[in-house]
Amino acid sequence: MTQPVDPHEMIQAPSLDGPNAGYMPGFGNDYETEALPGALPQGMNSPQKCEYGLYGEQLSGTAFTAPSHQNERTWCYRIRPSVKHSHRYEKIDLPQWKSAPNVDPDVVSLGQYRWDPLPHSDTGLTWLTGMHTMTTAGDVNTQVGMATHIYLVTESMVDSYFFSADSEMLVVPQEGRLRFCTELGIIDVEPQEIAIIPRGLLYRVEVLEGPCRGFVCENYGQKFELPGRGPIGANCMANPRDFKAPVAAFEDREVESTVTIKWCGQFHETKIGQSPLDVVAWHGNYAPVKYDLRTYCPVGAILFDHPDPSIFTVLTAPSGQPGTANIDFVLFRERWMVAENTFRPPWYHKNIMSELMGNIYGQYDAKPKGFIPGGMSLHNMMIPHGPDKNAFEGASNSNLGPEKLDNTMSFMFETRFPQHLTAFAAKDAPLQDDYIDCWSDIEKKFDGTPGKK
Ligand SMILES: [Fe+2]
Repeated sequence: MTQPVDPHEMIQAPSLDGPNAGYMPGFGNDYETEALPGALPQGMNSPQKCEYGLYGEQLSGTAFTAPSHQNERTWCYRIRPSVKHSHRYEKIDLPQWKSAPNVDPDVVSLGQYRWDPLPHSDTGLTWLTGMHTMTTAGDVNTQVGMATHIYLVTESMVDSYFFSADSEMLVVPQEGRLRFCTELGIIDVEPQEIAIIPRGLLYRVEVLEGPCRGFVCENYGQKFELPGRGPIGANCMANPRDFKAPVAAFEDREVESTVTIKWCGQFHETKIGQSPLDVVAWHGNYAPVKYDLRTYCPVGAILFDHPDPSIFTVLTAPSGQPGTANIDFVLFRERWMVAENTFRPPWYHKNIMSELMGNIYGQYDAKPKGFIPGGMSLHNMMIPHGPDKNAFEGASNSNLGPEKLDNTMSFMFETRFPQHLTAFAAKDAPLQDDYIDCWSDIEKKFDGTPGKK
């Protein structure tokens, strides 16, 4: 099923040809871009009068007084100030989209859980109506924690726009292609890419090729940043140049439109008479980005042992406690396995952090069966987990030559906070009731005999 897309009327800034067409490389760069020549003031932010009669406006992504290396803001030069894209607010309900705290007394979040992919339905769903919350953690009102969603999208938003004041959205497509038409430009994403939409940025989502399914991490806390590489040095893992921010694009379209706002876990609508995507030029370091997960350069074990999965961290959102993330986004992609005399799959463990995993494509090495593309698993705070019997026996008895772990791409949203299942995740989503049984036939091997392995 492919959804036709209205030709977007956005006028886009000229940009380089080639792989960067429509985008500017870098993570947290001080970008600048203009869709009309001379629209961007030079040497100052607030001229007495802006070119083209534009209005200057600052979008602050951090407190004014945040430390310089974390301070993020963008100056927008737009047809109307944002206050004209906002009228009286009316509360609406999006029943499948939940925010923390969302602790259902009838739901048990303690346990090991795994789900099959959420099936598409015949009902047309947009980015807003198709967002299905699976878990929540922390508290949206105090800006700590996160929520995990699965989106099922078959329809484009038409004259409909959205922003979340609550959260930065990390989008991980698994099926189909989406276009994010944002205030700062256009981002197209497909499976094996991700997008990060900052808090407060207004956008609509169009279906380029449907149906679309994917995962979203809604980050209530401090923004995602690149993890420090420490002794690894200046390269590898996620490299800043592989992140792409869009060039400026705007539309000057006067038509009845709806803006939906997520604010403190509630949804509100406001009606306006024009498209709010009217930023003609902008400069700053607070911007949406996309990133191709195939450019992630993994660093791993080259002699023995299986390191902690944190070596595969793509992005981390700090919590205020050093080294203990509000969210880590971790990628398990194709790589070579070469460690000698080593149990190579993930070991058995219990973790103070809560691990939610999703499969983008292929097969995951600790669970060759059952964890399928589009599926999801949850191993909550201090809940034991690890390889199933077949994975354990296979890895314990195989000949350990160099081996390419191929056809695999899974990820983890790992948070310091316990994740609570929504009623939808516990009762309506395709939960695998027999997941716990994958460990039931693990044998006791110990009988006290020295030298036995
Ligand atoms: Fe784990």
